[in-house]
Amino acid sequence: MTGCLLFAACYLPGCNNEPKQNNTRKPVDYIKAIPGISDSIPVKIAQKGEVLISYLDCYICHKKDERSVGPAFTDVAKRYPANKVFIEMLAQKVIVGGSGGWGSAVMDAHPKLSFEDAKTMVSYVLSLKNN
Ligand code: HEC
Repeated sequence: MTGCLLFAACYLPGCNNEPKQNNTRKPVDYIKAIPGISDSIPVKIAQKGEVLISYLDCYICHKKDERSVGPAFTDVAKRYPANKVFIEMLAQKVIVGGSGGWGSAVMDAHPKLSFEDAKTMVSYVLSLKNN
């Protein structure tokens, strides 16, 4: 009889002890990795990008491997394949600024930045894929 009741009880809602509502976002949802082929980024370009980033305001809002106002550069590297399409798209985003990709914080526009330099910096960011 007891066995029968337990059996029945487990078909009632709420029997499952695992919490169904989980308000903390899983990191995997935050990254939203986009599938695609990555080209290898020449070390010289990545190094130049790293230097450019250190001279600009990027580290006010970004950290290499930790979320700050903006996403960690390593997280950006995990989301986007390192190829021309995404490097150009992200370089454009750094120039015009914006929000919505990683949350509601806003990246300032960098209108004085050349597209070439922006691409070099983004190349450095995407070279952090395996960090
Ligand atoms: C005022 C703060 C701030 C500064 C300064 C800043 N960023 Fe950002 N950055 C952000 C925020 C916030 C986001 C997330 C934007 C979003 O959610 O779409 C971001 C996103 C990014 C992304 C990913 C964009 C995407 O669409 O996924 C890259 C790449 C990036 N920043 C590079 C840079 C570089 C390079 C610099 C320096 C030239 C820089 N950021 C300066 C705040 C900043």
